[in-house]
Amino acid sequence: MPAAKSGSDPTTAARDARRLSTLLEVSQALSGTLNLKSGMQRVLQTLIRQHSVVRGMVTLLREGELHVEAVEGFEDRARSIRFKVGEGITGKVVESGRPIVVPRVSKEPAFLNIAPRRPDQGKQELSFICVPIMLNRQAVGTLAVDLRFKAERDYDSSVKFFGIVSGLLAQALNVQRQVEDERRRLLDENTHLRQELRERYDFSNIIGTSGPTRQMYEQVAQVAQTNTTVLIRGESGTGKELIAHAIHYNSLRAKKPFVKVSCAALPDTLIESELFGYEKGAFTGANARKKGRFEMAEGGTLFLDEIGDINLSTQVKLLRVLQEREFERLGGTETVKVNVRMIAATNKDMEKAIADGTFREDLYYRLNVFTIFVPPLRDRKADLLLLADHFLEKFSREHGKVIKRISTPAIDMLMAYHWPGNVRELENCLERSVLVCDSAVIHGHHLPPSLQTADSSGTVTRVSLKDAVAAYERDLILDALKTTRGNRAKAARLLDTTERILNYKVRGYAIDVRRFKTPEVGRRGPDAMPEGLRDASAAQ
Ligand SMILES: Nc1ncnc2c1ncn2[C@@H]1O[C@H](COP(=O)(O)OP(=O)(O)OP(=O)(O)O)[C@@H](O)[C@H]1O
Ligand SMILES: [Mg+2]
Repeated sequence: MPAAKSGSDPTTAARDARRLSTLLEVSQALSGTLNLKSGMQRVLQTLIRQHSVVRGMVTLLREGELHVEAVEGFEDRARSIRFKVGEGITGKVVESGRPIVVPRVSKEPAFLNIAPRRPDQGKQELSFICVPIMLNRQAVGTLAVDLRFKAERDYDSSVKFFGIVSGLLAQALNVQRQVEDERRRLLDENTHLRQELRERYDFSNIIGTSGPTRQMYEQVAQVAQTNTTVLIRGESGTGKELIAHAIHYNSLRAKKPFVKVSCAALPDTLIESELFGYEKGAFTGANARKKGRFEMAEGGTLFLDEIGDINLSTQVKLLRVLQEREFERLGGTETVKVNVRMIAATNKDMEKAIADGTFREDLYYRLNVFTIFVPPLRDRKADLLLLADHFLEKFSREHGKVIKRISTPAIDMLMAYHWPGNVRELENCLERSVLVCDSAVIHGHHLPPSLQTADSSGTVTRVSLKDAVAAYERDLILDALKTTRGNRAKAARLLDTTERILNYKVRGYAIDVRRFKTPEVGRRGPDAMPEGLRDASAAQ
């Protein structure tokens, strides 16, 4: 029996002992370094020193080819050798996942003599053993050694031994790959977090390249670094808050707090205590002193959103803080000094509010040091596509969908609409579309009903001549009514027809003329058209 034989044979016993000590050295070499390449190098050196290995090579599979990871006993240029899977003995070992032994290299025609011997290796006969490095039952590389030829060599036992060495290499490789994966994951996470911070702090997340938007960027850049009070004006949903953030995070106060007060959300009775804080016992329920938002924003920025909604008595107190940078807490006598930069925003017509007596003129002038007007979305249609793409990407990511683009008809519909709710409405519209979208493209029918038009729903093209003419006629009438803001007499003149005929057609097509009448021209603009008929001027 071989076992009994190996136990009794003193040379075999010595060989086994040497092998055990080699395995110990190998595992120490691999665990003692974070650099796997140098660990492998030391493994090969150990094999050469302890056994009759003349030279050795470790290859690893990368991008479909075997790359030399470590060599010992070869000329240096051997490091650049590449093996294809299936090519030569090394390639076949990886392909089959089984070791190959060549007892006499000189007699083996399949032996690719890619790496010639060094002069000092002479002409001695060599045996070649190549074992796979297996990871998760897959060959991911090889360990190959040239041994001095010995006629009496027990190749089975040698293959087993080198197999164990390759197993240790595989373990080290596994650990290294896990560490690498973890490192990559942490790097990704880090990049993601940085990105998030940048998004929050930078104004690169303000999308748009149109003339009015660029002008706005310039104003933000001009004023951010100063301590000037800024008033941001614009319709609802145009991005006023976004701009207030951009100013703060691009100012010298960026590391200090940005505190927001929604003036419209706070009842008159609460707003003063919110802004200025109170002393203990100032009113029933004031059990302890409380800091107001002004004090919370110390060193930073206080953003007074919807300032147009603030009551007159609070306006007086605000005026004092703006002028003197000091105030008293409610129920207190101590004067508190503050270093706060103020940004206010409103969608109200301030001039009208002053004329009506609901807003103090002196406060307005104090706030109106540097005013940024945020144009409504309908006046910067050049930004619309960029914004739409931005929101498409954002919501696709959020909802885990792969939606690549917006179809041309859907883009036409977006361009034709007048966006009374501005960017916020566009944002909501895109989120809805992403939610209902069942393909890789947003089509017209994914957009909300307010954007659907006779045109986009295809009633013009895929119908009989009679219906097509009717649809065209209806479109012309809608267009004329839109241009004349619902004035039928003018619309009739535009269409070179009589008011009587127009009225007849309007009834026939069930057109609701009232919807074209825009009482608040400034707010909704001439484009206010719930039917969302394509706006010829906007589409140009
Ligand atoms: N230029 C822009 N780029 C990217 N997102 C924008 C832009 N403008 C506005 N938004 C987005 O539109 C939404 C509305 O913006 P924001 O809250 O700043 O508007 P607002 O003017 O303060 O509105 P309101 O007067 O109703 O408070 C936000 O989600 C904001 O991120
Ligand atoms: Mg706002």
